[in-house]
Amino acid sequence: MTESTYAAITGWGSCMPPAVLSNDDLSTFLDTSDEWIITRTGMKERRISHVSATELATLAARRALACADLDPADVDLIIYGGVSNEELCPNSASGVQVSLGAQNAASMDLNTACTSFCYGLAAATGMIRTGQVRNAVVIGVELISRYMDWENRNVAVLFGDGAAAVVLQATDNEEGMLASVLGCDAQARQTLRVRGFGCGYSGYGITLGDTFWDFDGQQIFKRAVLGMSRASRDVLAQSGLKAEDISLVVPHQANLRIIESVAKYAGISMERVMLTVEKYGNMSAATVPVALVEALEEGRVEPNSWLLMPAFGGGLTYCSLLVKWGSRTIPLEQTDVELPPCNESALELVNQVRARQDPYGRSRDGLLAPVFPEAQLRDGDSVV
Ligand code: ACO
Repeated sequence: MTESTYAAITGWGSCMPPAVLSNDDLSTFLDTSDEWIITRTGMKERRISHVSATELATLAARRALACADLDPADVDLIIYGGVSNEELCPNSASGVQVSLGAQNAASMDLNTACTSFCYGLAAATGMIRTGQVRNAVVIGVELISRYMDWENRNVAVLFGDGAAAVVLQATDNEEGMLASVLGCDAQARQTLRVRGFGCGYSGYGITLGDTFWDFDGQQIFKRAVLGMSRASRDVLAQSGLKAEDISLVVPHQANLRIIESVAKYAGISMERVMLTVEKYGNMSAATVPVALVEALEEGRVEPNSWLLMPAFGGGLTYCSLLVKWGSRTIPLEQTDVELPPCNESALELVNQVRARQDPYGRSRDGLLAPVFPEAQLRDGDSVV
């Protein structure tokens, strides 16, 4: 390693499934409304995938590699960030690796829920800056729709599927992720718990993959604002930058009101915030990279500008990354590979999942009562 090794973001690409689930679609089977969802969350639509998460991730990575004009054989590291993985062993990153033909890569999954991409970007940057690898692919991908408790309106309206990836490459130019603050508000880990995602519940009559979501939305809301605001303040202080130096904020998109609060505390106007929440909802780990790719495609990333990426997720993990963009904002190459066509509507796809879900699992009575014992913020805890 040399002191001057940085990790430039040289490629980017997303893969959004085409099927669109509207708020009105949700109100065909849930006691909810377009008006409630828009007012409380800012969401109008989300995407539902007809293919596996690995396929979404692979196409996003393929597009990012084309953008960087990098041969898959030259990739040293693949990080697959997400929480809705199809398999634990073998890991999902190895599935992407084999599909890409990246035979020389090390491959790992990284799960910090919605912050998985950002944690992955920080980890890969560190490995490049310390000389362990030179070229990395970092993916944020989720296929939440297959694991959603579709009968629970508290959560079913909030999430969507998607994927995006970036390519990082060693460089002597001072660019890429230059500072980060990563943290975890673990006292509140029970405010967001998906029972059925892991094997810890199999003894309680819950079938793996048949999920129960414990979700204390108001506590998560407050702690999300707190965590992202503090991390953003600290990462700016660490770097000697001010809010006015930030050209664009690319935040996690769980709720428009959370984003507005974080921007307000950071002193950054909403014109300098990239928003995708209206059309994609919360795609967990895929949210920040999809927003980044769309910002680039819309010409909202200026060459040599500063980007701030605050995020939070189950755990409750939180972070804020400071990225210095390089001089190039357009792809070097493109790939014409596409997803296979989708022959069903998003509502049909969701109804297929609902039909598979165990009717026994719909009754939460007494099976495992959700508990939020450590959830309350202490008196005097302020947002910044
Ligand atoms: N449709 C209609 N009514 C609803 C719905 C719905 N989908 N969901 C809840 N309600 C009702 C409630 O039952 C309640 O009714 P009541 O007043 O009769 O009791 C009322 O609406 C208000 O509910 P609140 O929970 O107080 O609504 P709030 O304004 O807090 O918004 C929300 C809820 C959107 C969940 C908000 O708290 C939020 O965004 N929290 C953050 C959640 C989040 O970002 N999670 C992402 C986690 S990231 C990860 O790692 C997976």
